[in-house]
Amino acid sequence: MCGIVGYVGYRNAQDVLLGGLSRLEYRGYDSAGIAVKARSMGTSSTQITVSKKAGKLAVLAQELENSPLTGCIGIGHTRWATHGLPNDANAHPHATEDGRLVIIHNGIIENYLSLKEGLLARGHVFRSETDSEVLAHLIEETYRGNLELAVREALRQVRGAYGIVVTHADHNQIVAARTVSPLVMGIGEGEMFLGSDVPALLPYTRNMIFLHDGDMAVLSQDGYRITNLEGVEQTREVTLIDWDAEAAEKGGFDTFMLKEIYEQPTALTNTLMGRLHDETGEVVLDIALEPAGFERIHIVACGTAYYAALVGEYLIEQLARVPVEVDVASEYRYREPLVDDKTLVIVVSQSGETIDTLEALREAKKSGAKTLGVINAKGSSMTREVDDVLYIHAGPEIGVASTKAYTAMVSAMLLLALWLGRARGTLNAKMGAELLHGVRELPRLVEESLQPERVAHIKKVAEKYKDSRDYLFLGRGVNAPTALEGALKLKEISYIHAEGYASGEMKHGPIALIDSNLPVVVVATESRLLEKTVSAIQEVKARSGKVIALVTDGDSMASRHADDVISVPRAHEMVSPIVNVVALQLLAYFTATALERDVDKPRNLAKSVTVE
Ligand code: G6P
Repeated sequence: MCGIVGYVGYRNAQDVLLGGLSRLEYRGYDSAGIAVKARSMGTSSTQITVSKKAGKLAVLAQELENSPLTGCIGIGHTRWATHGLPNDANAHPHATEDGRLVIIHNGIIENYLSLKEGLLARGHVFRSETDSEVLAHLIEETYRGNLELAVREALRQVRGAYGIVVTHADHNQIVAARTVSPLVMGIGEGEMFLGSDVPALLPYTRNMIFLHDGDMAVLSQDGYRITNLEGVEQTREVTLIDWDAEAAEKGGFDTFMLKEIYEQPTALTNTLMGRLHDETGEVVLDIALEPAGFERIHIVACGTAYYAALVGEYLIEQLARVPVEVDVASEYRYREPLVDDKTLVIVVSQSGETIDTLEALREAKKSGAKTLGVINAKGSSMTREVDDVLYIHAGPEIGVASTKAYTAMVSAMLLLALWLGRARGTLNAKMGAELLHGVRELPRLVEESLQPERVAHIKKVAEKYKDSRDYLFLGRGVNAPTALEGALKLKEISYIHAEGYASGEMKHGPIALIDSNLPVVVVATESRLLEKTVSAIQEVKARSGKVIALVTDGDSMASRHADDVISVPRAHEMVSPIVNVVALQLLAYFTATALERDVDKPRNLAKSVTVE
């Protein structure tokens, strides 16, 4: 939802900003722009130059190659449009009429219309249709020589969500503030950085401060100062980020998505690391949660994280025998769910910033729920607001379509289910040990599913069906969400319409869609309900549908009736969603690349949705 970068130091700001934006483009790619100025000496001021272009960052980069900007202070932005078309004029940064004050903004200014009316009446001239531009004019009005004070005063008039960075011709500093929209500050030597997210800053520093809601920061070459909107100094902890810079680069792969698919064995190893106790066969989670201290669980999430939550529901109910309800966050927060202090609310999120999930969490807290976050991004807003965090440790995920975060989330849910089951006495030692063995095997099994011959075969299948208009995905039991996630991956990056269904439901509707043009992917790996799944395959075949069966290595039941077969390594049924989904990620990936889609930046999507 828009990416922000800020820099003040000694390097060429343009390079830092473009590099940072390239690692934030997953947050939006409708337009990109930067503003740069040279350091001013004494009381003189220096001109700020702005360059901005509709389209992806590459368009701006090309423009800057022809007309580079010089200076070592700057701000940069990559946009996901909310107000106004994605054209040059609406691209950030936005400047005042005289060009002396320039801002970038991530979020939505809810009262911008009334603010704009006032500003227009007072003679301000607007150049864009964005809500963000009001911020530039408002700060200009409150400016009396001190940029920090002006920003603070202007923000008092603003309602909504913002991560904002401001630069001014008269100052060698940049001023930032946030409410709702995330901002991370990077601390260097003789230089300071700002970004919407950690990967933007990783090549320069690993010492970061996650600004809190209501924080303002003034950054200069000599350091920083954090205050709140009342001007009271705030102390914020410096976090040492343990991701390395290469983790946020493509590392030889064509796309971030493919790289992240291949990173899954490592990501899973990191999710599981230190949490499986060899001697006792127990799961050890570093959380203070009292496993018997609640009567029901609600799991809330959006998008891919929601499907991980659905697998979690199945696993927790099976292993820990606690009633679980799962909901998409945008519904949950408004449906007045029945929550009390006997409810554990689990939020699942890669970014920890998705606004619907964050607001759902806040609603649940108001009703006295205990809260747990299953989260990837350290220091993100949700991690600060939940009672406990179970980090998934997937490392930075840049591709907009989530892959390694999904499998890491499902593994974390599996650990949680095992932990709860053992602690609540619903999972006996034998079953626990069997499952633990299955979990321990996961990184190896996923590695095996990525063997070159398997991948090449999936690519062939994808190319065979790439021109299909629609796709149907079926799965059941713990793999019903696998079908939903397979369909989501395909539609997100290939733009082929795809529906996921529990296979038992096929006859209650989607069966009407089946004809000889419809590929139906059926998750038919070993399970206690495999025979029923095979019946579903036969029902599809009886109507001339094309079946792509996802089966366990050595299968002879489902494959017999399928047009195409994708085999995956044998896994315990409860852990199979993690192994199975990898094949579906690859199917979506190769379909999209065969259609020449931009898989890392699918149209209209953003990775971290920080607006409602
Ligand atoms: C967006 C992304 C999805 C993601 C969802 C939830 O819609 O495009 O890939 O699953 O947000 O994101 P979160 O960061 O909360 O997991």
